[in-house]
Amino acid sequence: MKYGFFDDQAREYVITRPDTPLPWINYLGNEGFFSLVSNTGGGYSFYKDAKLQRITRFRYNNVPVDEGGRLFYICDGDTVWSPAFRPAMTPLDHYRCRHGLGYSVFEGRKNGVRAELTVTVPLHTDMEVQKLVLQNDSSETKALNVYGCVEWCLWNAVDDAQNFQRNFNIGEVEIEGSTVYHKTEYRERRDHYAFYSVNAPLSGMDTDRDAFLGQFRGFSSPKAVEERTSYGSVASGWAPVASLRIDLTLAPGERKVLIFRLGYVKNPADQKFAAPGIINKKRAYELISAFETEEQFDAAMAELKDYWASLLSRFTVKSSEEKLDRMVNIWNQYQCMVTFNMSRSASYYESGTGRGMGFRDSCQDLLGFVHLIPERARERIIDIASIQFEDGSTYHQYQPLTKRGNADIGSGFNDDPLWLVACTAAYVRETGDFTILDVPTPFNNVPGSEKPLLTHLRRSIQYTLSHRGPHRLPLIGRADWNDCLNLNCFSNEPGESFQTVSNFESGKAESVFIAGMFVKYGREYAELVRRIGLSDEADEVLRAVDDMEDAVLRNGWDGEWFLRAYDAFERPVGSHLNEEGQIYIEPQGFCVMAGIGGEEYGRKALSSTEARLGNDYGIEILTPCYTEYHDYLGEVSSYPPGYKENGSVFCHNNPWVLLAYCRLKDGNAAFDLYTRNAPAYIEDKSEIHRTEPYCYSQTIAGRSAKNYGEAKNSWLTGTAAWTFVAASQGILGIRPDYDGLIVDPCLPDHMDQLTVTRLFRGTRYEITVKRGPDKGMRTDGKPVAGHIVPLTDKETVKVEVTI
Ligand code: GLC
Ligand code: GLC
Repeated sequence: MKYGFFDDQAREYVITRPDTPLPWINYLGNEGFFSLVSNTGGGYSFYKDAKLQRITRFRYNNVPVDEGGRLFYICDGDTVWSPAFRPAMTPLDHYRCRHGLGYSVFEGRKNGVRAELTVTVPLHTDMEVQKLVLQNDSSETKALNVYGCVEWCLWNAVDDAQNFQRNFNIGEVEIEGSTVYHKTEYRERRDHYAFYSVNAPLSGMDTDRDAFLGQFRGFSSPKAVEERTSYGSVASGWAPVASLRIDLTLAPGERKVLIFRLGYVKNPADQKFAAPGIINKKRAYELISAFETEEQFDAAMAELKDYWASLLSRFTVKSSEEKLDRMVNIWNQYQCMVTFNMSRSASYYESGTGRGMGFRDSCQDLLGFVHLIPERARERIIDIASIQFEDGSTYHQYQPLTKRGNADIGSGFNDDPLWLVACTAAYVRETGDFTILDVPTPFNNVPGSEKPLLTHLRRSIQYTLSHRGPHRLPLIGRADWNDCLNLNCFSNEPGESFQTVSNFESGKAESVFIAGMFVKYGREYAELVRRIGLSDEADEVLRAVDDMEDAVLRNGWDGEWFLRAYDAFERPVGSHLNEEGQIYIEPQGFCVMAGIGGEEYGRKALSSTEARLGNDYGIEILTPCYTEYHDYLGEVSSYPPGYKENGSVFCHNNPWVLLAYCRLKDGNAAFDLYTRNAPAYIEDKSEIHRTEPYCYSQTIAGRSAKNYGEAKNSWLTGTAAWTFVAASQGILGIRPDYDGLIVDPCLPDHMDQLTVTRLFRGTRYEITVKRGPDKGMRTDGKPVAGHIVPLTDKETVKVEVTI
């Protein structure tokens, strides 16, 4: 069943009831100030770093879930209600949540009063702005008490949730006019504060949570609201909040607008104070005065909508498949941008306090946004490469604020280095900007160690080649793409991290998946260096690629599919010889994408994949699931069967199989796989799938799980980038390349025609694909041989392809 519908015209998902199976969220913000917002107004805000600079509080393991966030109460006679349903939870006469690109709108109606609450973080603004429109549709005059409230987080979200002996003493606020300033720790080393403000005189306010709520109460029924009053409490320690009350009357038909502003300000160290102990509010005043009026708010919304329209116009498709179009044109690209901003930091499953930016995650995310924001992609590549070590290995993660490698998790994930080749090659194909290869880039951020980026890529290649095992296959290290295949770990201590323990450095465990990566990205590297005149190096790398391909065919083929790995004792993993975990998806997708063994092996591998791993929602990661823990396999065998890396549909790797089908020109199989887990296609199974129907989730429980079909961990997943690559470059076949734009679609039989517009190197390509007898391509009316539309300096080129 569905809980809403897509409004493609508005680029919105419209949720029609508050009781979605899980909170369905959206993201606000583009640069520094970010907010998460759920379909009942929940969520939180932070500035740049969700751990260190958390602005509002959120309790992940709370019951009821998703409490807090934007707390609006409207008191009308005996009734208290909230435009987003929560926190008051009074049944509404009408409810809608419209999640759009960078904004969300809540429409609530009760007893003849209509409220429309729009929340957004305007472009270039360190502030969430909330416009609340109230309209009296009844025939009587309404006297309303309106409350807007937020609960402050004491900045460091980890400390905030554990260091209570200190926290209960440090909370401080300042109140001035219609603004509450949150200034905990500002007196000492912090140079930033937050504020919550409304563009109307206050009828009352509270800043002490316990006073506002009263004893034994939660946010659903604060005592102040119940009494239609405010106590004027001033927080001193404990839990500071900002509760702003505005009493107003609305004549029949009358409409009033309130603008609430939740801002963040950082002051220069020597300008922190206006007077002893009093914060310098100059910057806050500027932010506040930029959003005093409805006109200012509406102008910012229009600017935001233009921004998205222009970003998304870089790639659009119009086909007979409405759901494909809405994924490709809107939601998939939107999710790619969210992964650019958030990496794996803050979602309803990632607490924002854990891992920073992943090396491999960030490299892969880039494949999905490089066409949207090439300049920022360039910067990102250099940031990532800067945590690589001299020998080509890399830190596995880095902190977004400091950009330093994360020593807690360290290095030793042997797929990591090759992802740098993948994303750099994709960047150069997209932009033609070979100069990135010359950028002096440090190793491990050590000043003085800078070498051209190209040297980093070369070391990635060399690292893989010099770390091979008994079967000439790459050593896996702590894990490869599958974080949970820990073949050198052997942990038997409860709670030990599988990612950091290595009790048994075998020097033997090998990965067929990394071998597949090497064949694919080794070729891409060779192509890249050939283009800058290094043909000897290119030839040498291609010889190594051939050798790796040979090693896979001799030692990495199980008879009907590709093996996954060899364990520390040189025993096969992912083989018919195993009792469980006989076949894994990753090497099937990657080795076939890389063309290993050509069509013959490819077809065999993919038909085994579909036959054994295929389910209603895609391709499971492995089968049969491990029913017991094996220390020689690690975390993969720690999950109950059907969940996560132990047999779910781990959505990230499904597009590899899709691209593998495209490599074999099997458009029907590719498209069928696409539709099994593309959110828009399974919208009507939302009661089973449970996560948002407009974005991908990391996993969908497999057939062995009790909750088969249930998704978890929505939003921050490499699935976003890879499915965009699969749909745009595989199915639609539009691939940026060095000499031009490749147009080589791989469509299912039922698709007869489509059009794509693609902005590429400054030219807008208007591409029409149709079926017909005289196959081939024409650009601006002239026939062109092959699949590449050559580069041009024209503004627009018309491309017609007949397949
Ligand atoms: C998570 C990680 C990613 C890893 C995958 C498989 O999505 O972020 O890096 O490849 O799990 O274990
Ligand atoms: C765990 C998770 C995996 C994730 C990894 C990140 O292994 O199961 O999905 O990628 O932690 O470190």
